This record gives sequence, structure tokens and C-alpha cells, in this order.
Amino acid sequence: MKSLRIFDTPTEVAGAVADRLAEVLAQHPRPVITFPTGSTMLPVYREIVARSQTGQLDLRGVQGIQLDEYAGVDDHTEASFRAWLHEHLLAPTGITAFHTLPAHDPTPAALASYEQVIASYGGVDLAILGIGGNGHIAFNEPGSPADSRTRVVELDRRTRQANERYWTDSDAFVPTRAVTQGIGTILEAREVLLIATGAEKAEILHEALHGPVSEHVPASLIRSHPHAEVLADAAAAGRQPSDSSARESDRLSA
Ligand code: GLP
Repeated sequence: MKSLRIFDTPTEVAGAVADRLAEVLAQHPRPVITFPTGSTMLPVYREIVARSQTGQLDLRGVQGIQLDEYAGVDDHTEASFRAWLHEHLLAPTGITAFHTLPAHDPTPAALASYEQVIASYGGVDLAILGIGGNGHIAFNEPGSPADSRTRVVELDRRTRQANERYWTDSDAFVPTRAVTQGIGTILEAREVLLIATGAEKAEILHEALHGPVSEHVPASLIRSHPHAEVLADAAAAGRQPSDSSARESDRLSA
């Protein structure tokens, strides 16, 4: 792993992600980027959308890749990750190329084809990730193999509880299964950027960064990636804001 960078606030983290995106776009006019969902990403996407609307970032050449999704959803499911990303990122930035997971009918052939399409793009340049309260990345729950590929998974009770807020329709309930890029798939990206903000992520982020590299804490597995970076706010990093050490870039060993 390359480094952990700590910022005072989620807004500063958002600015750093947008800066990194600008660098990636300067290097490749048509980068392949995996985008996550979740509340952590809201300020990040707000910043990216603001820069795009003021002409500072042009994302129209981006080939977006879906990271995870509930199993069984289709184009009409309002609580789908795909709909969420469309609203918060894709539509306002004009990203029209978005490769989705075969969530409605995730047959083995469809899952293999999802990965083959990514390979046909030349692989992923940048995988942006959040972290779940139990250490999951995408929907790779604790115990997911380090070499896992895109597949159907059962969701943890805690993950389903955390996602209840999106399923507000009285008839809807959080699906029990999801389709996710595997950890092996994610770690094939040339660069990995994990974003963590808020005190509720402090304990799991500490475990992921300083505990054993283990399938029990899937986020810890990114430490084996030579170009993985974690961007955290002071709260998630367990530091006080404006602590002079909070602005340092720490080097972490795998
Ligand atoms: C969700 C998604 C992840 C996301 C994570 C964190 O369940 N499957 O892709 O990174 O949990 O979400 P939040 O940012 O809302 O805490």
C-alpha cells in the first residue's frame, strides 16, 4: 500500500478525490473508473459535479464501471445503486458510458461476461471504494476470499440494516443477496483509492490498516496492493481535527 492521507473534514477529503480524478484525466482522456455508492461518497460526488459544472473537470470521456448492486434489481428499482449513481454522479457529469453488473439475472455466464468486458477495456485505471462498518469493500463481506471474482453474495445482517434507509417504499425490503466485484477483481485495478469519513468508521478503519491483513476484514486486503491509498478525515482516522499530525501522509507497510 502506498499511503494513508488524513484531512480535517469530509469536504477536504472530497477535494483530494476530485484532485486525483483531475490527474487521472490528465493522464488518460478515457480512463476506466469504478465508482462506489454510499453516504461517504455524497460530498465527494458533490465536489466532482461542482467542478464538472464549472468546467474544471470534464468527465464525459470516462468509462464508468459498477462495483456492486443488489441482486434482482432492474431498471425500475429506485433503491438500486445504479439509480443512485445515475442521480448523484453520472447524469450531472455527463458520464454516459457505464458498464453495469448483471444484477437482474446474475448467471455464471453473465458474471463472466461482465469481467470480460472490463478486460476488453484494458482493465480498470482507478477503483474508488468505500468501507462498510464491518470492513466490507463493495459487497465483499467478511470471509470473502482475497482472490474472489464477480459473484452473487449473501449480505450480512448488519449490512442490510445499514442499507435499510434506501429502501423506504413500504413494500420494499433490503434484498438478502447482492452482486459484487470480487476482491481479486477489485485489486486488479492499477490504482485503488479507499475513502473513509466519520467517527463510526474509526474502529474498522484502524483494524483494516493496523490489524492483520485478513479476509475477516476485507478492506485490510487492499494493503497488498502497491498503488492503494486511503483518504480519511480526522474522525475516521481517530485523530483530532487540526492536530498537526493529522495532515501528515503516513507510510504504511503491507
Ligand atoms: C455499502 C456498499 C459499499 C459502500 C459501503 C459504505 O453497503 N456496498 O460499496 O462502500 O457500504 O457505505 P457508506 O458510505 O454509506 O457508509
